[in-house]
Amino acid sequence: KRPWRIAVIPGDGIGQEVVPQGLRVIEAAATRFDIALQIEHFDFASCDYYLRHGSMLPEDWKEQLDGFDAIFFGAVGWPEKVPDHISLWGSLLQFRREFDQYVNLRPARLMPGLRSPLAGLQPGDIDLLIVRENTEGEYSNAGGRLFAGTPREMAMQETVMTRVGVDRVLHDAFNQAARRPRKLLTSATKSNGISITMPYWDERVRAVAAEHPQVRWNQFHIDALCARLVQRPQEFDVIVGSNLFGDILSDLAPALCGTLGIAPSANLNPERLHPSLFEPVHGSAPDIAGRGLANPIGQIWSAALMFDFLGHPKAHDAIVQAIEGVLDPRSGAPRTPDLGGSASTQDMGRAVAQAVIAANLD
Ligand code: NAD
Ligand code: IPM
Ligand code: MN
Repeated sequence: KRPWRIAVIPGDGIGQEVVPQGLRVIEAAATRFDIALQIEHFDFASCDYYLRHGSMLPEDWKEQLDGFDAIFFGAVGWPEKVPDHISLWGSLLQFRREFDQYVNLRPARLMPGLRSPLAGLQPGDIDLLIVRENTEGEYSNAGGRLFAGTPREMAMQETVMTRVGVDRVLHDAFNQAARRPRKLLTSATKSNGISITMPYWDERVRAVAAEHPQVRWNQFHIDALCARLVQRPQEFDVIVGSNLFGDILSDLAPALCGTLGIAPSANLNPERLHPSLFEPVHGSAPDIAGRGLANPIGQIWSAALMFDFLGHPKAHDAIVQAIEGVLDPRSGAPRTPDLGGSASTQDMGRAVAQAVIAANLD
């Protein structure tokens, strides 16, 4: 059997610091579970590449990447060098759309050793899976600007919801919920105010739900959902949302678990016609970049999601168990400053890699 081909793209800022720690753990898991990998590194999809070449990606990026099984991605963006909409639309958002990575899975769990800003929560009280629509919705790029420089100046951008695009992510979300003990799906909507696309979303949720009778479901408007997530996070299991709502919820959920630094994501092309992309939820964090302060767990957990998608659940479980072990304060393992410690990105990455080698999976 051929080795899995993994493309590594660190990008900008702390992407450059956390990706090497993710790779350290990938190599530990590959050794431990005898998984053959062929890893290649790319310097495009970074703002420095843009300053050298005038674009974020080479012209043939699609051909270069399409034969890979997975892309292991850091973060893109350095607004002082390149405006964010140019760097992101020129890279990450191209990958998601052109490789049809229409499901974005973003788990968030309050693990032992994490300190939620919410009072009185126990480990396990937050155990969420956010399923984000990842190729259309509010991120449409359809629209334009008119009357520039005049008093009538305007900008508009359409939300696009297609039946295929909405239904396929909803089916995936119901299937995700069916695999979890609580089997509960919550739909994030805003059909009271957004009067065309959001009622359509609700209509498709009802139709798709009828095909998944084993899953209970409910819906909340996004504003009320955010409030309820803060007040009663225990009530939620899987949450499905449009591209923008999923984006917002997937920063909120890990923040409720104490830090954005742990949150992973899997941008999936479930049909495997194109590579899927695994990256932390967080960005390039210019405010802490270059100083070894970044928490590498979001990147490392993303590696676990990658192994799971490639068909190596034991490697996934060993990495998640290693993360839990290192986060548990009783382990005495190094912790980065966002977790109240003073250890470096590298120290923490090394500790997780060692725990993967030592993991006892019985
Ligand atoms: P951000 O996620 O980079 O940072 C938000 C806050 O969280 C910052 O205070 C940061 O220090 C902290 N943080 C983030 N990751 C952390 C980690 N691993 N450990 C400890 N603390 C961490 O969001 P932002 O500041 O809005 O964006 C910065 C840049 O990143 C922008 O250019 C933005 O467009 C880009 N961005 C890229 C991605 C991506 O590539 N997927 C995602 C989000 C933002
Ligand atoms: C994310 C990020 C991106 C998004 C930005 C950087 C375009 O916030 O992956 O969550 O909005 O999808
Ligand atoms: Mn985001």
